Amino acid sequence: MKVLVVGSGGREHAIVHKLLESEKISKLYCAPGNGGISAEAECVNISATDIPALVAWAKKNDIDFTVVGMDDPLIMGIVDAFEAEGLRVFGPSKKAAAIEGSKAFAKELMKKYGIPTAGYETFDNIEKAEEYIKTLTPPVVLKADGPALGKGVLICPTREKALSGIREMMVDKRFGESGSKVVIEEYLTGPEVSVLSFCDGKTVVPMVSAQDHKRALDNDEGLNTGGMGTFSPSRVYGEKEAKEAMEKIFIPTVEALNKEGRTFKGIIYFGLMLTKDGPKVIEYNCRFGDPETQVILPRLKSDLLEIFEACTDGTLDKLDIQWDDGGAACVVMASGGYPLSYEKGYEIKGIDDAEGLPDLKVYHAGTVLKDGKYYTNGGRVIGVTATGSSLDEAIKKAYDGVAKIDFKNKHFRHDIGIK
Ligand code: AMP
Ligand code: GLY
Repeated sequence: MKVLVVGSGGREHAIVHKLLESEKISKLYCAPGNGGISAEAECVNISATDIPALVAWAKKNDIDFTVVGMDDPLIMGIVDAFEAEGLRVFGPSKKAAAIEGSKAFAKELMKKYGIPTAGYETFDNIEKAEEYIKTLTPPVVLKADGPALGKGVLICPTREKALSGIREMMVDKRFGESGSKVVIEEYLTGPEVSVLSFCDGKTVVPMVSAQDHKRALDNDEGLNTGGMGTFSPSRVYGEKEAKEAMEKIFIPTVEALNKEGRTFKGIIYFGLMLTKDGPKVIEYNCRFGDPETQVILPRLKSDLLEIFEACTDGTLDKLDIQWDDGGAACVVMASGGYPLSYEKGYEIKGIDDAEGLPDLKVYHAGTVLKDGKYYTNGGRVIGVTATGSSLDEAIKKAYDGVAKIDFKNKHFRHDIGIK
C-alpha cells in the first residue's frame, strides 16, 4: 500500500517510524515532514493545512491510505474532504474533531452525559463573565473556546488575575477569535495522566498510559510549553484508575458522540486528572499527543497500519493489540529561549552516536537536513527516546543519548520521568 502521513512534528516522526515496520506498506510519504522524517519517508512539500492540495496530491499519486497526525487539519475537516473524494483516511470527521476544536462543545457534551470533569460556565459576554468570576473562590481556570496552539488556558491564582485574564482573552483577543467564547472552570488538583485510545466509532481501546512534562524548567517551573518530555507508563495510573476511567469516561464519551451524530473514528486523547473523587477529564484531543506518541508507539508490538485500518473500517473489536511490558522515556531537546523567542539554524551533532546506543531513537520535531547534516529549525528540536525493561532503565538510557547530542543553546529538562 502507498501511505501518506500528514504533519511535521516529533509525533509524525514516531508514526512514520512505526508504520515502516508494517509489511503492508510499499511506499511511505509524509507532508510536509521534517529533516528526520525525510531520512525514513519521502517528504512532500505541502502544508498540513492545505487540504485541497493534499487531496489533489493523494489522488494523483494513488495513495491508498492517509493518516492525519496534526490537530489543525482534523478540526478544519480534512477527513471529510478526503472521504468526499473516495479516499481512505484515518482520523475523525470535522464534527467529531470538535471535542478538541471547541472546549465549550466538549464541556457541554460532558455535562449532558454525566462524564466527570471540572464544573464550569461558558460566556460570550464580558460583563457576564466578570460578574461570574466575582462569585468564585480562586484559583480560577479560563479557557479560550477555540484552538490556541495549546496556549489558550490561563490558571489565575487570584480574582484580580482572573479579571485581567478574561479581558485579555475576550477584549484584547490575545488568542484571536478563539477567545470570543470562554469557558470558566473549577480548579482541580491531582496528578495528570494522558490516556490515548484507538476508536472505531463503537469500540474504544486505551493505549498504555503516559505522562507529559509541560513546564519549560526542572521541578515544573517556568512557562508552559508543548511538552518537554514524556514517559510511559504513568507511575500513578493503575488498574483501579483504568477501570474507573473506562467505565465512567472512555465508553460514555464514545457513546455520547454517537448519540450526538458525531461518531468518532481515530485517536481520542483523554487528558485526565486523578482527583480525590476519581479521574476527571481536563481535556479531550482528537489526535495523538506530542510528545506522548514518542513513548507510546515504541511500546506497541502490533502492526500500527492494521490498527488504523480497523479503526476506519469499524473492526477494532477483532484485533488483539499487544504492548511491551517495560517503559519508555522521551527527553525533548529544545532551542534556548523556547517557548518564547529562540534562534534556529544551528548544526546538531551526535545524533548518530546517540542512535548507536541500545534501544534508542531520536525523533525529530524541528530539524532540517542539509548536505547530510541536521540543523535546528524549531523550538522543540528533537525527542531523545529510549525503551527499557523498566521505566527507570528507559529514563537512564534516554539521558545517555542526550549526553551525546550537542547544538548551540540546547535546553532540556533533567527530571523527565522522575515523578
Ligand atoms: P488544557 O489545554 O486544557 O490541557 O490545559 C492546559 C493545562 O492547564 C492542563 O494540562 C492542566 O495542567 C491545566 N488545567 C487545565 N484545566 C484545569 C483545571 N480545571 N484545574 C486545574 N488545572 C487545569
Ligand atoms: N502533549 C500534549 C498534547 O499533545 O496536546
